[in-house]
Amino acid sequence: MNAATAQLIDSFRHSAPYVNAHRGKTFVIMLGGEAIQDGEYRAIINDVALLHSLGIKLVLVHGARPQIDAELAARGLEAVFHHGVRITDEPSLKVIRQVSGSLQFDIMARLSMGLSNTPMQGANINVVSGNFVIAQPLGVDEGVDYCLSGRVRRIDVEGLQQQLAKDCIVLVGPVAVSVTGESFNLTAEEVATQIAIRLKADKIIGFSHQHGLLDEDGSVISEILPGEALSYLTQHGEQICPASKAFVEACVEACRRGVPRCHLISHLQDGALLQELFTRDGIGTQIVTESAERLRRASIADIGGVLNLIRPLEEQGILVRRSREQLEMEIEQFMVVERDSLIIGCAALYPFEEDNAGEFACLVVHPDYRDADRGSLLLRHIIGQAKGRGYDRLFALTTRSIHWFLEHGFNIVDVDALPTKKKQLYNYQRKSKILMLELKDVIN
Ligand code: ARG
Repeated sequence: MNAATAQLIDSFRHSAPYVNAHRGKTFVIMLGGEAIQDGEYRAIINDVALLHSLGIKLVLVHGARPQIDAELAARGLEAVFHHGVRITDEPSLKVIRQVSGSLQFDIMARLSMGLSNTPMQGANINVVSGNFVIAQPLGVDEGVDYCLSGRVRRIDVEGLQQQLAKDCIVLVGPVAVSVTGESFNLTAEEVATQIAIRLKADKIIGFSHQHGLLDEDGSVISEILPGEALSYLTQHGEQICPASKAFVEACVEACRRGVPRCHLISHLQDGALLQELFTRDGIGTQIVTESAERLRRASIADIGGVLNLIRPLEEQGILVRRSREQLEMEIEQFMVVERDSLIIGCAALYPFEEDNAGEFACLVVHPDYRDADRGSLLLRHIIGQAKGRGYDRLFALTTRSIHWFLEHGFNIVDVDALPTKKKQLYNYQRKSKILMLELKDVIN
């Protein structure tokens, strides 16, 4: 087997947990006009088809902003905005309906392709569009009439659910009808968020010409909470394009109203959608109500995960081997760091009540996640537990990580300093260094 095939098989297997997790879930994908115009549009549509074939229920909301601007300009119609919102008069709406309708047909056509030797071969997708979104006028603000610019009044949740249950992809554009029989021009961001909120979707995914939200060094912020995302926008609002800004604001609202995860990824990077959805670390920014990573007390269900994590270190002789039975007995003394149901870190606090001391043991962080100082996080937590129990000393035995412990305030001590029970078990051949931390000295 050549390296590329081995790699393919490996990645395919690694995506299995997410294939299972996403099956039957509802995702709203927002394809802004920018992504259609400048992005890997065809590849994105092919990947959308792939998501559909994996059993994900999809609502695809498309925008048309740059296309509308271009067409209005071509016809000599002026684009007028108030507070950043377009004022849509009759002639503009005519253009908007044409542009948006034609994009909608284009997307539908692409989703219907089935040529052999293309990723769409055998896809056989039913795409439906309809009056799922009912609009109302935005109204008048500071004496300025928004005319035919509208906002969402109602969403036909049941109608949408019926189509999704029939395995259709629902395609929705930024023009919606009203009870008075008129059409209104809406923002795709609002349509996408309102649909996601009311459908109780599991995700909203949107595209940007960047890889997501970027930090000071230009690297992608992988995960951000809604409140942090808003402060990010206040601080870096100018650096990100208006479309992404609007999308992030929409995601914040969606998160706060119950959509657990929203993702911002690049439309320029081929395959970003698949990488974001089927790898643990994704590629873009996820806006989440609850971090994907949790530090919690271990339970019996974690034994397999903890064993997978510690076995390689036992094999290298870095940790003393524990049998499954032993771990079963001790599991309640463990804390674990869980990331989307994978255990990526663990540590234990063994009690030596007679000596008012504890042992910080079995600290392991998964090799792929050694960057963010999860070891210190686990130590801080265990120190807190030890102090809570009224211990005055914390011990650790190590053959390799002596400096790490010294940096964290431990001192090297002699075997005699160990709690009596631990001293009896000390392995003189292994010659582990004994480190001790005076808990009264620790402020945390
Ligand atoms: N694939 C997972 C999901 O779809 C995790 C994505 C993680 N992405 C990130 N930007 N941190 O939920």
